[in-house]
Amino acid sequence: MAARAYRLRQRRGALHLTDRVSAAVLVSGGGTNLQAFIDEVRERRLDLELRVVISNNRDAGALERARRAGIADECVCNEDYGGRAEFDAALAATIYRYEPDFLMLAGFMRILTKDFVNRYEGRILNIHPSLLPRFPGLDTHQRAIDEGERVHGSTVHFVTEALDAGPPIMQGRVPVLPGDTALTLARRVQAIEHKIYPATAALLAAGRVTYKDGAAWLDGKLLKEPLQYGDI
Ligand code: GRF
Repeated sequence: MAARAYRLRQRRGALHLTDRVSAAVLVSGGGTNLQAFIDEVRERRLDLELRVVISNNRDAGALERARRAGIADECVCNEDYGGRAEFDAALAATIYRYEPDFLMLAGFMRILTKDFVNRYEGRILNIHPSLLPRFPGLDTHQRAIDEGERVHGSTVHFVTEALDAGPPIMQGRVPVLPGDTALTLARRVQAIEHKIYPATAALLAAGRVTYKDGAAWLDGKLLKEPLQYGDI
């Protein structure tokens, strides 16, 4: 993949001509998923260049995590832009300066415009705290408890125009235990998130997971069902 990524970047006229696959991580909050990427890269279990962390929220703890790890950090701050199109144009301009191969949304709490998503088609991933297609949207942990789910979890998926509905790549499952609150369940889900997101990023960086014809592929074969963490 490294050679292929390099050639693609060369063809795009990129300035950053390294042979490592690179990513921008988009965040809004505490950044525990970002931290999982940082730790896996540091431990050399994930060969991905974390080129920049971009937040829409100036106070995001994730920005501090980026600084501590020596990763460039940027704020495209909500309050500086009027509407969605204006915000997304500024976001795209910031991303352009860093030329990442992939965009990893990690707790990025903004809905992106169709134009933005289409511009980066097949290059944006998100992690959503439920076993999609169950519980798209917000408050997933409370909804899982309210509906009496026995199993809950998280999904890494490609981002498409349809919110929380792009092709899933990997899921991690956790039990819902008697007495769980949204908080205790969220903690259990987050622990599995910190495994499945880096694991998916590793497959992506190795060129094993790809996006084509609106679907996710693994090793050139259509991924009909998402991978389950531990399967691979
Ligand atoms: C995660 O639970 C993720 O599934 C959701 O937002 C949360 C981000 O947490 N999209 P963190 O900022 O990575 O700690």
